[in-house]
Amino acid sequence: MTSILAKLNRLMPIFMAAIGILAFVQLLGYLGQWLSKSPLASWVDRHAEVIEWTLAVAAAVSVSLALLGWLRATGRMPKILTRWTGLMDVLDRLTNRRELELRLQSKPQAVFIDADALARALKSQVVGQDAICDDVAAQIRRRLALQQRGKPVGVFLFAGPPGAGKTYLGKVLADALDRKLIHLDMTQYSSAGLAATSLFGSPKGYVGSDSYGKLTGALRDTPNAVVLLDEFEKAHSNVHKNFLTAWNDGFITEASNENHIGTTAAIFILTTNAAVDALAIISREFAKSPDDIRRHADAALRSAGFAPEVLSRIDRIFVFNPLVDLDIARVAALEIERMIKQYGLDVREGGIDPQILVDLMTRQKKLGNCASSRDLVRAIEESVADSLIEAKQRGVQSINLIDAAGRVVAQAAD
Ligand SMILES: Nc1ncnc2c1ncn2[C@@H]1O[C@H](COP(=O)(O)OP(=O)(O)OP(=O)(O)O)[C@@H](O)[C@H]1O
Ligand SMILES: [Mg+2]
Repeated sequence: MTSILAKLNRLMPIFMAAIGILAFVQLLGYLGQWLSKSPLASWVDRHAEVIEWTLAVAAAVSVSLALLGWLRATGRMPKILTRWTGLMDVLDRLTNRRELELRLQSKPQAVFIDADALARALKSQVVGQDAICDDVAAQIRRRLALQQRGKPVGVFLFAGPPGAGKTYLGKVLADALDRKLIHLDMTQYSSAGLAATSLFGSPKGYVGSDSYGKLTGALRDTPNAVVLLDEFEKAHSNVHKNFLTAWNDGFITEASNENHIGTTAAIFILTTNAAVDALAIISREFAKSPDDIRRHADAALRSAGFAPEVLSRIDRIFVFNPLVDLDIARVAALEIERMIKQYGLDVREGGIDPQILVDLMTRQKKLGNCASSRDLVRAIEESVADSLIEAKQRGVQSINLIDAAGRVVAQAAD
């Protein structure tokens, strides 16, 4: 039904043209009559009834379509009509959609969260970044407690070396706050035109203008999401600028219908590998002075291509440390535990042979400075997965992982 209505709407100019032509012909007919003996006058006389009926039907269809369109756009469509036309939204049927939309657009309410509990939840999964986890939790607590904001809950930049847990912390944060994650890989938006339309919608009349952009659509449906803009520096600078109203004025505009989509309930997290070395030095040198860190980090990121107007809208820059020593072992142990669970098995407490972790750390060290935890995850897959499959085939449930002359073996724990 929706598509029939859309097609009829598209035919609207033809209806209007038909009305115009017939009215013109009739007018000519009357003119002819007035001038008497015109050939048109006799034609109009003979077909007067048909012309009048056609005019009336075309006018009625056009007016009804226009009225339906207006009722639908303003949310005033009576329930009986929406049911009859088959256009009923599930929210119209089951609740008061207009009221729901008004409430979602309303000012954010102050929310009080336990920052310590949030920090603990983050630190239990993200290794070696304790200070960042504490700071993120404290920032979010303060911002959620604000009654009036007019801006997102937070715009945070996670900077640092590859595989230090930047993207991972974004995901863990969404999970800990029980919010939906909108994960956008910004490397896909490196071209100016297409990138912006795919995120923020296409202007009316252009291909794709019948649906919302990826970001506008997702935020319309889940205004309080955690928006993870991964590898932000790789997106085109025009795309960066599209985010300015989101962070400054509390909304983004969907290009297809100019609707404002609120961003005041959302948390934006940007990640970047830009200026890694400079940022590492800055965070070491000014460890005790957050203001100095911010000033120098801004300068370093500006030289790495971040526009000053983008940087000025970022609430906080967190510089991640590279993972070293026992932190590598911790990430490895967590990854092994996760993989064991993914195979539907469980590991006994103390059930991972330390030698397995030593071997993984040695392998990681050999890769030198460019080693990231992604290499570690790959190494774990290579060395552990086969033993887990074998254990599964033997029908074992609970396992210990032991090192048998350089090979990982999953032994039954009971
Ligand atoms: N600090 C950490 N604590 C726990 N696990 C981690 C940590 N860092 C990385 N990992 C593991 O390594 C994987 C890759 O890390 P992640 O994608 O977060 O790196 P990144 O810092 O975003 O790197 P890049 O800059 O290359 O995108 C994660 O999915 C996670 O399993
Ligand atoms: Mg990442």
